[in-house]
Amino acid sequence: TGIVTLDPGYKNTGSCESAITFLDGEKGILRYRGYSIEELAEHASFLEVAFLLIFGELPNKEQLDKFHKDIKAESHVDEDMKKILDSFPKSAHPMGVLSSLTSALIAFNPMSVNVSSEKDMYHAIIRILAKFPVLVAWTLRKKKGFPLDYGDNSLGYVENIHKMMFKKPNEDYKTNKIVIEALDKLLILHADHEQNCSTSTVRIVGSSHAGLFASLSAGISALWGPLHGGANQAVLEMLEAIEADGGDTKKYMAKAKDKDDPFRLMGFGHRVYKNFDPRAKIIKKAADEVLGDLGIEDPILEIAKGLEKEALEDQYFVERKLYPNVDFYSGIIYRALGIPTDMFTVMFALGRLPGWIAQWREMRLNNEPIGRPRQIYVGAKKRAFVPVEKR
Ligand code: CMC
Repeated sequence: TGIVTLDPGYKNTGSCESAITFLDGEKGILRYRGYSIEELAEHASFLEVAFLLIFGELPNKEQLDKFHKDIKAESHVDEDMKKILDSFPKSAHPMGVLSSLTSALIAFNPMSVNVSSEKDMYHAIIRILAKFPVLVAWTLRKKKGFPLDYGDNSLGYVENIHKMMFKKPNEDYKTNKIVIEALDKLLILHADHEQNCSTSTVRIVGSSHAGLFASLSAGISALWGPLHGGANQAVLEMLEAIEADGGDTKKYMAKAKDKDDPFRLMGFGHRVYKNFDPRAKIIKKAADEVLGDLGIEDPILEIAKGLEKEALEDQYFVERKLYPNVDFYSGIIYRALGIPTDMFTVMFALGRLPGWIAQWREMRLNNEPIGRPRQIYVGAKKRAFVPVEKR
């Protein structure tokens, strides 16, 4: 009712009240349910963070064990889902495959659609936390031509995901602590980020009372874009292109500043952070540590650091407050962990899953109204219909 205010990209519109994630873009602060991202990344496990985001408090040992046990009991994915996966061409982008599979999961779990009670909601949440990692692993295994196996319920949540993704046929599975800890940290850092594009999508789709899985599938599609989660793939491709082009970072800096050139420095800039992205700081340090611990020397890390240094001293970037964001260094770690470039955004989705779930749950529990923005109409005035032969 009343006056409609135009706010393209919702830069100044609060779409909801939320008690999940606090973000101060000027000061570079990010907290999940009051806990700083730095502390959580250092001390918590991804599963604890998932519980925290969704239910509001860190779990005690008993609650965490029950949560994990409930998830393990739901880790089966209907065999017919394999046929759906098989019908995709091998060249299909994993994000498209993942959003389709998440949607297809509804057909095999129809009881997860109507969630009128908190109990139904809990079951839908547990089911997707259990089955989504299987879909992620299968998406990768299909690319690699590996058989579509299930997980190993004796392992921790993240280690099991790693095993499901990487266990080679006819070989014992081996991993090390560094890899699992790096993965845990990356997933935690991606777990929520208040009302970003994909989260807003999840909330708005869910606001029509479409089910959780349908809302998530829409969120995955939103995340895919290169201005959002797809930036991590775009960053690595950009760094590879710069390397192949002789490592001339200055040339690419100039392109990024040229308003007639559509090229942007991928992994730079953020709608909310105008000082630094606290996630990028943690990830940069982790990239150094992980590559060091794994004994990997990646020339691309040096190119990334070079670009960052130049950008931080460049007037164009300084004036516009453009800093490295979460996607700038994450791909370098994913690459060191053996994750293919076109799977990077899938890893982002895996991390963001608890955040999307928490936001969807909050929206439903708050009985939020259907999301329905208005517009300022700028089209034609009333005119008479013209039959086709007279046009
Ligand atoms: N390279 C060059 N110029 C840039 C960049 C960049 N990466 N980002 C912003 N600018 C310029 C932009 O051209 C504009 O300049 P001017 O004022 O002269 O027109 C100014 O900075 C403001 O940019 P904007 O596009 O109006 O800002 P926004 O808040 O709408 O967009 C953004 C934010 C993240 C989409 C944008 O910075 C961008 O496209 N960055 C590259 C893609 C990227 O890394 N995305 C990941 C975002 S963080 C994690 C996530 O969401 O998944």
